[in-house]
Amino acid sequence: MKEQLAKIRAEALAALEGAKAAADLDALRVKYLGKKGELTAVLKQMGALSAEERPQMGALVNEVKASLESALETQAKKLEQAALEAKLKLEAVDVTIPGSTPKLGHKHPMYIALDEIKDIFIGMGFTVLDGPEIELASYNFDKLNAEEGHPSRDWSDTFYFDKDSRVMLRSQTSPMQVRAMETMPLPIRIIAPGRVYRKDEMDATHSPMFHQVEGMVIDKNVTMADLKGTLNLLAEELFGKGTVTRFRPHHFPFTEPSCEMDVQCHKCGGVGCPTCKGEGWIEILGAGMIHPRVLEMAGIDPEEWSGWAFGMGLERTAMRRFKIADLRLIFENDVRFLEQF
Ligand code: PHE
Repeated sequence: MKEQLAKIRAEALAALEGAKAAADLDALRVKYLGKKGELTAVLKQMGALSAEERPQMGALVNEVKASLESALETQAKKLEQAALEAKLKLEAVDVTIPGSTPKLGHKHPMYIALDEIKDIFIGMGFTVLDGPEIELASYNFDKLNAEEGHPSRDWSDTFYFDKDSRVMLRSQTSPMQVRAMETMPLPIRIIAPGRVYRKDEMDATHSPMFHQVEGMVIDKNVTMADLKGTLNLLAEELFGKGTVTRFRPHHFPFTEPSCEMDVQCHKCGGVGCPTCKGEGWIEILGAGMIHPRVLEMAGIDPEEWSGWAFGMGLERTAMRRFKIADLRLIFENDVRFLEQF
């Protein structure tokens, strides 16, 4: 009987150790420890033993039973642990796998140029203003010294909302000069970027909607030299050191004297090409000393204060800044074009 027990124990322990699943363990429990199991079968033979042998044998059977139970438990824990590890391995995230880069958009080149312009003027102490695109003709024209009958007020140039020509889509950002004069304490240093509208056909340099940046300074003893100095600095900061500019006399009703500023063409370096229409220069802004009558109408004494203003075409500036040949590219939203910036 002793040998039989030793054999059962050895066999059972080996089988338990080799068990691969919880179901295998259950089957082994039934096989060795169950009611019809092998240990029970040995117990049933106890009746044949002598009174001295019986307790010895009983103790031995119990010992085998205990060792099998503990082996069962150990193996069950082992399997559980292995299952958990397998599960964790399966669920693990491999942080070393290269990710897929999401396709991000970015700022439009014209707004990149505008942000650069804002930075330059903010650095010189200017405030950035925003104003209405639907404007009163009184602000767009009258208060800017462009009286009734001025050619720029013509219906063929301007988008009016009413037949009395009182409300319109602003044709320039210059009404922001007046709005600033009327609301801000002196001295004033402002820029005012925004959309403007004119009845123009679309071509390489024109669009019925485009953007301007208005700029204005009103202070004591302000001169044309300040205007030229500021605009030349702007051109160098924006387009690079050594950028060549020129100022040509011009006429605007709200400045006197008035001028236009050109920068040398980036395409041909001044020789003349299609981008600059053979001129060698690209006009980017109109400017001048604020007309005393405009100051007076806004309640500012022109004997005490003087100022200058400019109105810059933002598309043209962005075209010069990024060497873009055709204005239409700025509005077409062609991703192949926009991706380049
Ligand atoms: N408003 C003018 C234009 O649209 C530009 C300008 C602004 C000129 C300020 C002088 C002073 O052409």
